[in-house]
Amino acid sequence: MKNFISVNDVDDINALVAKALAYKKKPFADRSLGTDKRIGLLFLNPSLRTRLSTQVAAKNLGMEAIVFNVDKEGWALEFEEGAIMSGHTVEHVKDAAPILGQYFDILCIRTFPSLKNREDDYSELVMNSFVQYSGVPIVSLESATLHPLQSLTDILTIKETFTEIRKPKIVLSWAPHVKPLPQCVANSFAQWVNAWGSADFVITHPEHYELSEMYTKGATIVTDQNKALQGADYIYVKNWSTYNDYGKIYSNDPAWMLTEEKLQLTNNAKVMHCLPVRRNVELSDEILDSENSLVTKQAGNRVWAAQAVISEILKEI
Ligand code: CP
Repeated sequence: MKNFISVNDVDDINALVAKALAYKKKPFADRSLGTDKRIGLLFLNPSLRTRLSTQVAAKNLGMEAIVFNVDKEGWALEFEEGAIMSGHTVEHVKDAAPILGQYFDILCIRTFPSLKNREDDYSELVMNSFVQYSGVPIVSLESATLHPLQSLTDILTIKETFTEIRKPKIVLSWAPHVKPLPQCVANSFAQWVNAWGSADFVITHPEHYELSEMYTKGATIVTDQNKALQGADYIYVKNWSTYNDYGKIYSNDPAWMLTEEKLQLTNNAKVMHCLPVRRNVELSDEILDSENSLVTKQAGNRVWAAQAVISEILKEI
């Protein structure tokens, strides 16, 4: 694996999941793979799980992991080609990234979208600039449009917990939120589940919350949440802002919050969320604190997904 930016960087999802689950059983099986190698984790936006799970994963592989909160501690970076840098940006990524590439064997980047200009966000300028200029493998810790480490974790959590021979029914369900959120987690989950091809996959959201077809093609999309939930084995709850009229909140209908009553429509579904979650806005206490909730197991699995990805990259450098 050269970079890990999306599912398109993965040859075999099931093999990568198997590797992650093997690390869950034996975390230190490859403790010397990363000896004398250094991984840099650059955060242009906040994180709890991604930051710490990736650090733990790298350390399990014997790597030194260094975190840099670019947003708080670094120079303001410029990404626009040909920019006249007379404003607040201090250093161009063309100058910074090749230097970081000399300090680290692998670079990991977290950057969120602006949610102001769809074309800019969906061009993935920040992530692509690091790929172009750093000269080392890049791992996405969530980008403007995708969150592949989260999605790999999600698939492995489903594979780990689903014991029947048939395909699971997985429902990605929009949820209310207090502010406009990126489409990244939903895009990425849809992209991975579709590429995996081992599920009956339904996406449900209110009108006007259509995601890009680039990621949803292959899924069944319905705007009646109760209908979508019928017979579900897994419900992935997530808010996202509008994609078409970009970055807006059109409706925050609390009726879209998953409740115990709605769970009765399902096949005693397991409930997933990438976290952080707004309790009693996105998901009710009764669901989050119930045995149906997978969110803690899911977040714990972030370590094994990151470890599998980093080890695949280490094999190539
Ligand atoms: N799920 C997730 O990416 O969590 P953090 O934002 O805390 O890293």
